[in-house]
Amino acid sequence: MKDLQSIKQRFGIIGNYAGLDRALDIAVQVAPTDLSVLITGESGTGKESFPQVIHNFSSRKHGPYIAVNCGAIPEGTIDSELFGHEKGAFTGATESRKGYFEVADGGTIFLDEVAELPLSTQVRLLRVLETGEFIRVGSSKVQKTNVRVIAASNVDVTMAIQHDKFREDLFYRLNTVPIKIPPLKERGEDIFLLFRKFAVDFAEKYRMPSIRLSNEAKNILLNYSWPGNVRQLKNITEQISIIEREREISPEVLQSYLPDYSGIKLPAVIKREEDRSFSSEREILYKILFDMKSDMNDLKKLVLDLIKTGDLDISFHENNSGVIKNLIREAGREQPVQSTPESHSPDFPHHHSGAHIQDTEEVVEESLSLAGKEIEMIKKALEKYNGKRKMAAHELGISERTLYRKIKEYEIEM
Ligand SMILES: Nc1ncnc2c1ncn2[C@@H]1O[C@H](COP(=O)(O)OP(=O)(O)OP(=O)(O)O)[C@@H](O)[C@H]1O
Ligand SMILES: [Mg+2]
Repeated sequence: MKDLQSIKQRFGIIGNYAGLDRALDIAVQVAPTDLSVLITGESGTGKESFPQVIHNFSSRKHGPYIAVNCGAIPEGTIDSELFGHEKGAFTGATESRKGYFEVADGGTIFLDEVAELPLSTQVRLLRVLETGEFIRVGSSKVQKTNVRVIAASNVDVTMAIQHDKFREDLFYRLNTVPIKIPPLKERGEDIFLLFRKFAVDFAEKYRMPSIRLSNEAKNILLNYSWPGNVRQLKNITEQISIIEREREISPEVLQSYLPDYSGIKLPAVIKREEDRSFSSEREILYKILFDMKSDMNDLKKLVLDLIKTGDLDISFHENNSGVIKNLIREAGREQPVQSTPESHSPDFPHHHSGAHIQDTEEVVEESLSLAGKEIEMIKKALEKYNGKRKMAAHELGISERTLYRKIKEYEIEM
C-alpha cells in the first residue's frame, strides 16, 4: 500500500481524520484501474485534489489530464466543448475544433459539478462511457476515444435523479466507485492542523507574523458548523491574517468572522441547500408550514406553563375550555395530533381570536400532511386542465413522467 502521509504531502492535503484517510485510500486503490469514480461531498471539502491523485497513480499519468467545470459552461456550447464540432455546425463555428474527450485520449477527464450537465449532454456522456464512442457536433462520423472519467458533485445526485434532472443510468455508470469526502465539522482536531497551515501560509504570503488562536477561540473553531467547509476556513484565516493587528485571536474577534455563529445557523444552512438542490416553491411552503408548526408548539407549551403556574388569568369560558383541555391532553401525550387531509380546506391564516385556536391548530397540522397536500394539488391541476397531464405537470413544475408516477402511487382517480 502507498504511504498515505507522503501522498497527502505531495498533494497538499492536510488532516488525519479517519474518513479522509479512507477516501484517499480508496482513491489510491482504484487509481490503477480504469473504473469511473464519483466524488461527492459538500462545497469546499477538498474534492478537487482527489482526481489528481487518481490520475497520478494511474497508468495514464503521462497522458493528458483535463478538468472541466460543467457548471461554468453555458448549456449551448457544452456539447461542442466536450465533444468538439465541425466547421459550420452552428453560427460562429468558423473552424472545426476538437473537444475535451478527443484531446484527453489516453488520459483522464475530471467532470466537476457533473449534476449540472444538461440531459442531452448526459446522453452523449453515457455513450462515450459505455462504448468509447462520440460524435462531434455537426458531424455524423463516429469517433473513438480512450478516456477515464472522474466526476464530482456537491449536490446530492440521487435528488437530481428524483427531480428528473439527472439520468439514473448515467449515475450508476459514473458511480462505479463512490468516494465521499467528509464535511469539515466532522473532522474534529483536523481543523487546528488546517488553521495552523493556512495561518503560516498567509503569514508568509503577506510577510507578517502568523496569527494564533486563544484556547477559547479554538473551542469556537471546533464547534462551528462550517457550511463552507475548508474553503471557508481558509478564507476567514486569510481575512483575519490581513485585518487583525493583534495576532492572538480572541473568541470575540473570531466570532465576528463567522456568519450565523451562536444558534441562528438554521436559516442560512437551509437557504444554502435550497439554492443548490432543485427545490420548488412548494417545498419552501412546506418548510414555512413546518416552522409555523414548531412555533405553534412552542406557544402551546408557553400557554400551558403560564396556566399551570397561574400567571395567566384565563376564564374558563365555554369556548376556551375545549382548547385548554386539548392543550393539557396533548402535553401529556407529547405527540402532534394527526388529522386526515380531507377534513379541512387550507385557509388557515384568517383565524385570530382565541375561540378559533383549535381550528387553526387542526388546519396547520392538516397542511403538514405532505402527501395529502400533494394529492390535493395534483387533483386541482388535473381538474383545471381537464385531465391533460402535460399541462397539469407543467403547472405543478414537475415532469410528465413524475406526474404519471405520482398518479399511480397515490391512486388518484381521474
Ligand atoms: N484537506 C485539505 N488540506 C488543505 N487544503 C484543503 C483541504 N481541503 C480543501 N482544501 C482547500 O480548500 C479549498 C477548497 O477545496 P476544493 O476547491 O477542492 O473544494 P471542492 O470540494 O471542490 O468544493 P466545490 O464543491 O465548492 O467546488 C481549496 O483551496 C483547497 O486547497
Ligand atoms: Mg470544486
